[in-house]
Amino acid sequence: MVYMGSKAKIADYIVPVIQSHIVVSGSRTYIEPFCGGCNVIDKVKAVNRIAADKNEYLIALFKHLQSGGKLPDEISKEEYEKVRENKESFPEWYVGAVGFLASYNGRFFDGGYAGIGYERGRKRDYFREKRNNILNQIRRGGIAGIDFMAKDYREFRPKGCVVYCDPPYDETKEYGIAKTFDRIEFWQIMRDWSRDNTVLISEQKAPEDFMAVWEKEIDRTLQAKEHFRATEKLFVWGNSGKFV
Ligand SMILES: C[S@@+](CC[C@H](N)C(=O)[O-])C[C@H]1O[C@@H](n2cnc3c(N)ncnc32)[C@H](O)[C@@H]1O
Repeated sequence: MVYMGSKAKIADYIVPVIQSHIVVSGSRTYIEPFCGGCNVIDKVKAVNRIAADKNEYLIALFKHLQSGGKLPDEISKEEYEKVRENKESFPEWYVGAVGFLASYNGRFFDGGYAGIGYERGRKRDYFREKRNNILNQIRRGGIAGIDFMAKDYREFRPKGCVVYCDPPYDETKEYGIAKTFDRIEFWQIMRDWSRDNTVLISEQKAPEDFMAVWEKEIDRTLQAKEHFRATEKLFVWGNSGKFV
């Protein structure tokens, strides 16, 4: 799914790392507490897969598609504004479809309505592109069997699992939920979970007691015409004893 902060571009690199930890640890359960567009978990194989996110509309959208639900063919600007202003009057999955698929860059009702546009002289139907993208993701089958949950990552108490965390970015353009994300608390929870689980974290930097097990410089897009280079890394807690 086209998503703000999507890991689609690096999934080919990080999925094998995650997969090897599932094999080595013998864990039956894989958890993604910040699943976003599910661009990583849809390629991971595990006996049980749990995808969670704080955004309940996102989770409702995936559940809807997982159970064979359809998507609207188009969303007008008027409909977009109506749904944005009256979320409670619409089914949650529909608010998710409108908010994620009809907004620029998959930013939930952020960045504004993206209907038909022109980029370098080429006509683009942004809604249709995002709609096709998520429908293809469903068709490829990687979403089948995932257990979806709308919850805050702090509610998890994992044990014996492989956990991959892709929290909202630090020090990049602030967006939605990221404004209130407490990073000190986040890293402490990562330490706690690492005692009983294999925990892999996508970030650009981490406290000193974490170490990078993979890194790569990558093109990152924040807005349609705004690209910059960033180093993507995968961290584990250095004191967990599993990786030294
Ligand atoms: C960088 S995105 C994940 C992108 C995903 N890996 C992908 O490839 O599409 C971060 C996600 O964390 C979610 N999030 C932010 N704060 C959260 C919290 N406290 N608990 C759970 N999810 C949260 C956001 O809604 C967002 O979907």
